[in-house]
Amino acid sequence: MSHFSIVAAALIACLPLARAHDDWGDRDRDRDRHAHPALRTPGTPPGIALPPLATPASAWDGKAFRGGVVSVSHPLAAQAGADVLARGGNAIDAAAAVQFMLNVVEPQFSGIGGGGFMMIHLAADGRGRDRGGRTFALDGREKAPAAATPAMFQLSGTTPQALFGIASTSGISVGVPGTLALIDTALKRWGTIRLSEAIEPAIGVAQNGFRINRFLAANIAGDGGRTSLQPETAAVFRPNGVPLAEGDLLVQPDLARTLRAIARKGPKVFYEGEIAQAIVAAQQRSRAPVAAEGAGRMTLRDLKDYGVLVREPISVDYRGWRVASMSPPSSGALTVGQMLLMLERFPIGDAARGYGFGEAKTLHVMAEAMRLAFADRARWMGDADFVDVPERGLLNRHYVASRAQLIGESTRMATPAAGNPLPYDERHRGDKRSVALPDNSEEVRPSHTTHYSIVDRWGNVVSFTTTIESTWGTGIMVPGWGFLLNNELTDFNLAPAKDTTPGDPGANDVAPGKRPRSSMAPTIVFKGREPVLAYGSPGGSTIINSVLNVTLNLIDHGMSLQQAIDAPRLSVTSAAGTISCEGTEAFMRPKFSVATQDALRALGHLGLGTANGADACTAAIGSVQGVAIDLRSGRQYGGADLRREGTVIGLKPVRAD
Ligand code: GLY
Repeated sequence: MSHFSIVAAALIACLPLARAHDDWGDRDRDRDRHAHPALRTPGTPPGIALPPLATPASAWDGKAFRGGVVSVSHPLAAQAGADVLARGGNAIDAAAAVQFMLNVVEPQFSGIGGGGFMMIHLAADGRGRDRGGRTFALDGREKAPAAATPAMFQLSGTTPQALFGIASTSGISVGVPGTLALIDTALKRWGTIRLSEAIEPAIGVAQNGFRINRFLAANIAGDGGRTSLQPETAAVFRPNGVPLAEGDLLVQPDLARTLRAIARKGPKVFYEGEIAQAIVAAQQRSRAPVAAEGAGRMTLRDLKDYGVLVREPISVDYRGWRVASMSPPSSGALTVGQMLLMLERFPIGDAARGYGFGEAKTLHVMAEAMRLAFADRARWMGDADFVDVPERGLLNRHYVASRAQLIGESTRMATPAAGNPLPYDERHRGDKRSVALPDNSEEVRPSHTTHYSIVDRWGNVVSFTTTIESTWGTGIMVPGWGFLLNNELTDFNLAPAKDTTPGDPGANDVAPGKRPRSSMAPTIVFKGREPVLAYGSPGGSTIINSVLNVTLNLIDHGMSLQQAIDAPRLSVTSAAGTISCEGTEAFMRPKFSVATQDALRALGHLGLGTANGADACTAAIGSVQGVAIDLRSGRQYGGADLRREGTVIGLKPVRAD
């Protein structure tokens, strides 16, 4: 067993294997719920909504299955997962095969040079080596190396405007990668196939090549220069200086060699062997004016010491559904959870009261809830192994109510400060710290990632968000090994925030061994203890909002999974509150009408231009891949996103009634 595996196993052994969180929301039975009356089932207690979610009316092609469903953003990756299910593997096995294939066919978004969070629900009688009926999250997030310091991104000779671009393409932003360790841990503990079996299909496609789809072609063409910065990366994606185009064959022999080495020797070759040495050398690359400042600080010891953690998801109860997602170091569950609890006060979905899908009132309260939650996120959220994140206070119903009261129905609020959840958190009740609460705004950085969801025939569910941070990561490809290194450490505060205002905890400041705050929100929705939906999205901080939009579409607007994914999304990622919204693609429907946009503009919302009558909803936000399970019939559905080449493959189709 490699040193890495011992670390991982030891961590797993000493962490309580999580049930889904003991549902803080369940304690809030008296919460003021304004459920859409049409969604209430006669006889249900007042305020408990039973939305029409248990039977998604239509999914991808309206097809239902019984043998498992894989929903991924690329057809070759979906096929790799489905093949594993067809051979009798479980959802964890399939997830492993999908990740290795994604490294080959979506190299710009995820891979062994990055990290991720995998939510797993083990069915009570599911096939696996472990007791079922539990939900937990594997944390394979990249870590700061032992030599990291809070001020390490203060690169001399850079302007604040240039800092992110330089840091994110230099070794200083490479976090110790966790994806391979995560997959290996998942397979060893809950899978039924060997790592080499999961890797094998990806080796073939890397060696023999595949035809580039329009999304990868667009990412190469519009890479902001990232694939030209390093010769190894340019040689793969711009051979002889010519960017590969849609339909071109992409062959990756170096990546095939890497995958073969891992299949033969196990993850030790990556975390301790020759690949580890190559990673450490590659992250010395720097584009900083003072090269030594931009060079990565990762050592062989950092790689050897990497450990996967098993964490307890955080869940909130929303109108009778339990929405479970990723706990710190991700801000996903806390931020989505805050928004849902704020929005539960409004009759979202009630068209008669102006809260139908895409109506101005609905979008207004969504935007305001996003602004309030992002203000809290910026101040309070980070790696809870290093800073005290007041998780219970942030989701306390009285605290959330005090925040939600700031939402006026007829006007946009001034930029909200972060709130103070400490008095609402039992661990902090005696805390007499005076906390100054400045305005917070979050820098929006375009970044991409991938989410996929799987359910198997036994009902095991995987919801996995996986990333190398920006599209192309740092753009640094490990020479001779053919995979890209992440720039995940730029998810930390680039300038230390601790005590820059009194009481600021610096929750997301860099520290040795710390994991940068993420927005990733792999989500599983439960009815009681049974999973009914799994989904998530890429898109940096917009991930949180994509998950919120889809959740409201499903629970409040009564959409099927596919409709919920297709519908245009709205996103605000800072307290300052600039709206971006979708609507250009034909499949995005129903549209946010121009009249609605005018109404939002009249309320004072930003980001929609100044002229009434113009359609400002032109953004592209996220890419959601999901699965749904109808508890009554046991049928399984998939929904995939045309914002990428989303593909659903199901096994054992159910004939239409
Ligand atoms: N890499 C995207 C995130 O962690 O939020």
